[in-house]
Amino acid sequence: MKFFIDTANLAQIKEAHELGVLDGVTTNPSLMAKEGITGHDNIIAHYKAICEITDGDVSAEVIATTFDEIVTEGEALAKLHPRIVVKVPMIKDGVRAIKHFSSKGIKTNCTLVFSAGQALLAAKAGATYVSPFIGRLDDVSTDGMQLIEDIRLIYDNYGYETQILAASVRHPMHIIQCAKIGSDVITGPLSAITALLKHPLTDSGLAQFLADHAKAAGK
Ligand code: E4P
Repeated sequence: MKFFIDTANLAQIKEAHELGVLDGVTTNPSLMAKEGITGHDNIIAHYKAICEITDGDVSAEVIATTFDEIVTEGEALAKLHPRIVVKVPMIKDGVRAIKHFSSKGIKTNCTLVFSAGQALLAAKAGATYVSPFIGRLDDVSTDGMQLIEDIRLIYDNYGYETQILAASVRHPMHIIQCAKIGSDVITGPLSAITALLKHPLTDSGLAQFLADHAKAAGK
């Protein structure tokens, strides 16, 4: 399973990359705004900076919502770097644009997906990735993980190559459950990824080993 980090924070992207487990980055307009990245030139420069850190795919989201504008914006984003994936919302013109990008060999990430039907449409349009937002579904008392299971079943039934990119991941159990179901990718904050490291028995076991070593060495 691939690990993407869901942030536009360069320091966190570097930290995840240096950990050696980073396969890509997802961003969205809210995450860019959170880092204070505004204005066309700054946004473009920031995407390029992210692409310089990671070896994996970098999702850059379009702001446009009509077919012609999505195509223009998406094609410009795709030209920035070979690792750029054009992130397109699950709307009617977005589905049309994904089909267009797919026919041109431009990678896409269909975002804001909350149902199996939307995921089916994204796959039929040829999306490279589909992003079901599991945390936001959990937030409204709907089982986000059930959606991942449903999409896995549907994609496997027909051999769709669209990769399931479980998004809106909030904690390590989301990652573990996604891995059990067979999600192709998860994207979440660095804190959810590093939380996988933690176990109190690891900490106490290491403390004991080091203490025994020091005692034997007469320290
Ligand atoms: C997906 O690509 C989105 O950027 C993201 O995962 C949304 O997560 P949130 O619900 O924590 O904002």
